[in-house]
Amino acid sequence: MKIRIIDLLKTTTYNINVSVNGWVRTHRQSKNISFIAINDGSTVHNLQIVAEHEKIKKDFLKLVTTGSAIRVDGMFVLSTGNQQHGEIIAQNIVLYGTADPQEYPLQKKEHSLDFLRNIAHLRMRTNIFGAIFRVRHNLAFAIHKYFHEKGFFYFNTPIITTSDAEGAGKLFEVTTGDNQDFFGVPANLTVSGQLEGELGALGLGAIYTFGPTFRAENSNTYRHLAEFWMVEPEMAFIDINDNMDLAEDFLKYVIRYAIETCESDLIFLNNTVNSGLIESLHSVVNNKFVRLPYSQAIEILKQSNREFEIPIVQGMDLSSEHERFLVEEYFCCPIIVTDYPKEIKAFYMKLNEDGKTVRAMDILFPQIGEIIGGSERESDYLKLRQRMEELGMNMKQLWWYLETRKFGTVPHAGFGLGFERLVLFVTGMSNIRDVIPFPRTPKNANF
Ligand code: 4AD
Ligand code: MG
Repeated sequence: MKIRIIDLLKTTTYNINVSVNGWVRTHRQSKNISFIAINDGSTVHNLQIVAEHEKIKKDFLKLVTTGSAIRVDGMFVLSTGNQQHGEIIAQNIVLYGTADPQEYPLQKKEHSLDFLRNIAHLRMRTNIFGAIFRVRHNLAFAIHKYFHEKGFFYFNTPIITTSDAEGAGKLFEVTTGDNQDFFGVPANLTVSGQLEGELGALGLGAIYTFGPTFRAENSNTYRHLAEFWMVEPEMAFIDINDNMDLAEDFLKYVIRYAIETCESDLIFLNNTVNSGLIESLHSVVNNKFVRLPYSQAIEILKQSNREFEIPIVQGMDLSSEHERFLVEEYFCCPIIVTDYPKEIKAFYMKLNEDGKTVRAMDILFPQIGEIIGGSERESDYLKLRQRMEELGMNMKQLWWYLETRKFGTVPHAGFGLGFERLVLFVTGMSNIRDVIPFPRTPKNANF
């Protein structure tokens, strides 16, 4: 019977014949016996193989070094040692591929995360990256599960677009390199699926996108990527308060899902990279997020008497030091900041009665800062046009967006979750480059 290590380690049926595949993590030899720990990626736990030299020749075992790939056929037995519940007494070992100990970079010693980033093609074979990418998968699955169960439709928005949804101008152009534009107009990689997502919601009622987005952020920070995955739900017939309720419920749901399904990986990460991890996950799930308007956040920051690198002034955009002060030191829980000045937010946000602020909502998390950005959308045709005019935007280009406000417009709202920022928080890692398999950042597009 061919079986994955995670399933084998769950069984309590011993003395059965099984076949297990895996990569060798360690190989320890004593006089008549070899102990080989293998891992197949299904779990953070290794499986111990006992190879008696009578059955498996020593000469052959010399090739079974750290990093090599093998299949083991043998009897799964209850271990006599105290390290593990079950182990395999090998009858036969098949060597798929060797790994020269002189060359294979992942020898037993600890490696820095920096070093592992340079061998991203192999880092999935370490406990830490195995754990991270299993958690990442489970979070992605939980996101689809959550929205599906709530009646949202998974809606695919284009990756190549001709608009700059956020108006931030951090676009990657798409061109074939010759002078003839393939699309007849300048095109770019999408910075957000929102505008097309709105079109979906204004017909299907509630949709979500989950896809790659691209921003030419020329900033090398622990929380910015040039290519990242964004989750953008959008709903018709709801306002900013419903939007905040949804976002909070959603975040708690997916984090709870990870706590429940990724227990051994999270325990491993808690023990090796971030000793406060599990506590902080529980704290987010169990506490209500504090909601406050931007102006109040600014007041708190001003009165903190803190020397921030960027001094506090009304109207400024918050940077990560400000966000983290509010979340980690002042409120000690996630917060939702609302009603930002219109000048620092995108054109599509609904204007408040004061004419100065917009119905924006940013969710700020411990260690991460902004994890979600969203808003109620301007659903009034004339007000939206006016805002676009003020900003000198090209109305012709967004004719289709404007038409949704002309025909059967309704209140609607949505938000965008930076998926890697969520994975960063849930794994307790401290650099966003470590929670996406192949990060793209300034001067780096390896692998
Ligand atoms: O706040 P942002 O720019 O909002 C939007 O794009 C809206 N269209 C969302 C919406 O309302 N549908 O981005 C949303 C989130 C941020 O809160 C952050 O978590 C993440 O995307 N994000 C990044 N993550 C990694 N690297 C970057 N360069 C990111 N830029 C934004
Ligand atoms: Mg934002």
